[in-house]
Amino acid sequence: TLGGYADFMAKEIAEQPEAIERLLAGRLDERGIKLDELSMSEEDLAAIDRVYLIACGTSYHVSLIARTLVQTWAKVPVICEYASEFNYEQDVLVTPHTLCVIITQSGETADTLTAARRMRGMGCKVFAITNVLGSSAARESDGVLYVQAGPEVCVASTKAYTAQMVAGALFALRLAQAQGQMEPDEVERHYRDLCSLPDLIREVIARSWQDKRAAAVFRRAHSALFLGRGVNSTTAYEGALKLKEISYLHAEAYPAGEMKHGPIALLEPGFPVVAIVPADAVHDKTVSNIQEVIARGAVCVAVATDGDEDVASLVEHVLWIPPVADELLVPIVAVVHLQVLARYVARMRGCDVDKPRNLAKSVTVE
Ligand code: M6R
Repeated sequence: TLGGYADFMAKEIAEQPEAIERLLAGRLDERGIKLDELSMSEEDLAAIDRVYLIACGTSYHVSLIARTLVQTWAKVPVICEYASEFNYEQDVLVTPHTLCVIITQSGETADTLTAARRMRGMGCKVFAITNVLGSSAARESDGVLYVQAGPEVCVASTKAYTAQMVAGALFALRLAQAQGQMEPDEVERHYRDLCSLPDLIREVIARSWQDKRAAAVFRRAHSALFLGRGVNSTTAYEGALKLKEISYLHAEAYPAGEMKHGPIALLEPGFPVVAIVPADAVHDKTVSNIQEVIARGAVCVAVATDGDEDVASLVEHVLWIPPVADELLVPIVAVVHLQVLARYVARMRGCDVDKPRNLAKSVTVE
């Protein structure tokens, strides 16, 4: 039931902090990160030399974040694939020690299941990250991690997205540990950083009025451009996907540095641009992109870190996030503003946020 919320999307956005707390509870002991769900021996984990991350839609965006975490923390090369593309690729680069991880909220996405079967057919171990108990993905995999986000009713994924990213982070830490790439105190520090996320998300939700105010920018828009760099290019992809799914506004996302290679031609006075520009190593580069956008009369809404006066003085609206200890985890906090923003834009445009046209909660045809 809605329990006082206007729609399931609002309820599920609000449930994110608790979902992540549930997933993280009891995951650290004296031996490090506990992820018995992997059902793999320490030797097998240590031997993994390649990881395939396969998913669709929002879950594919999770794979992009997980790739960065696995490569940075565990130093294992990762290949991300859209399941629907992977299934028709001729050459699959599996080694005897490749692990395949499928990410699927529903556990019933046909393309993702086909990809998992293909990988298993090639002798690859398959690990599933899913939200649905006893789903096909869970039943057909060698190991399964339930993200425990609770039922997600709204077609647009919110709490499963953030919980799946945290699951990806746990997997990356577990692998880093088994591969001898991380000292115990480092593992513990990363785990603590993950544990700080629920409160940061609560803080962003408490700032929803900022998204409500910024939604006005999209009132007469026909299209919008989302920009971000590094891990937050993924935040841009996810923000654009949320907006188009529920508000039917065309939205396109680009890594900020790619804008000048084409999309900049779209810009004209009044064109809405959403820039994700947290305090991180690539901040100043993204600020220059914002300057280019503004010089062409576009209206910019920025997701920025508290206290960033440089960004505040440039843009029309700022969606503020509190400081996040590890910049690789910013996507898990920043995206919450984009979920809330998409919801306000959709409501303003009279759309049914929970049941957008043409979409189903799980896509069971290939
Ligand atoms: O259940 P899955 O995670 O496998 O679903 C994959 C996509 O269909 C899904 O994420 C879709 O993109 C969402 N509606 C996005 O909000």
